[in-house]
Amino acid sequence: MKKIGVYTSGGDAPGMNAAIRAVVRTAVTKNIEVIGIMQGYVGMIENKMTPLLMRDMANIIQRGGTILKTGRSLEFLKPEFRKKASENLKSAGIEGLICIGGDGSFRGAQALFSEHKIPVIGICGTIDNDVFGTDDTIGFDTAINTALDAIDKIRDTADSHDRVFIVEVMGRNSGYIASHVGVAGGAEEILTPENILPVDKIIDRLKESRLRGKTSSIIVTAEGQKPGRAYDLADAIRKKSGLDAKVCILGHQQRGGSPTAHDRILASRLGSAAVLSLISGKSNMMIGNRGADLIEVSLDIVTKNEKHGDVTLIQLAKTLSV
Ligand code: F6P
Repeated sequence: MKKIGVYTSGGDAPGMNAAIRAVVRTAVTKNIEVIGIMQGYVGMIENKMTPLLMRDMANIIQRGGTILKTGRSLEFLKPEFRKKASENLKSAGIEGLICIGGDGSFRGAQALFSEHKIPVIGICGTIDNDVFGTDDTIGFDTAINTALDAIDKIRDTADSHDRVFIVEVMGRNSGYIASHVGVAGGAEEILTPENILPVDKIIDRLKESRLRGKTSSIIVTAEGQKPGRAYDLADAIRKKSGLDAKVCILGHQQRGGSPTAHDRILASRLGSAAVLSLISGKSNMMIGNRGADLIEVSLDIVTKNEKHGDVTLIQLAKTLSV
């Protein structure tokens, strides 16, 4: 293999740049040229590609976002656009691909491999940590630390005013961010797509906690399918209980910022391993981790299964926030 392509796709995640750096530096050391494909599948269809050299990777390990930019391409869902993308890749002389993204991005990679025989290796990068087959994804650790920093600050004002605060974190289909941040931030309730509670039950619990002497409470909710749902919950709590309920939506700040050491190390390891895997002739695999070990999992398995949030953490938060 003499030339490979790398791209980032879907929601950006802190640590993607560290992964790109690891891909480029590992490949160039092995005399393989690397082409950066801009904006994920958008750039693949529109032929937006640029060579990535060793020195282009200077000073990016600490930067959030992605120097390759990213996108969510609806066109790529259609076979005719995938054909166009594969023609662009082939005429650029690209013999293999490294895809950095989440399960949606991997479905695209899988289609390129099955329909056009382009070898591809996936690196799991998404703040949601909702990719089946790996313990961790690049960006999750940074995102939960960003959210935690905000919750610690919210706690100060919640306590000063004896208020209930509903903090909405990201996670459309996954409660990973909510459950981890909820435990680490001492939340009383954690609401996730896997753990939806009726408002009356939440109010009962808030009232019980007041009887036990608590004066303020934090509820962490994943945004789920409706970003902004925290406002509906706050309205219902105020109307039905008279408690002073406020909302803080953390939103896209969770996607940005300098990656934590954990995410930089994970990204560096996954990026380097992905190149070695691709040049050893493997394809249609994701590189992930199980504990301290890196593992290869077929993209067929990754994309056919769902990874659900850890409900034991939700119970733990409840137990410890008495
Ligand atoms: O990348 C994952 C994620 O941040 C989800 O948690 C969130 O629901 C979604 O992306 C938001 O995507 P967008 O920025 O495209 O609105």
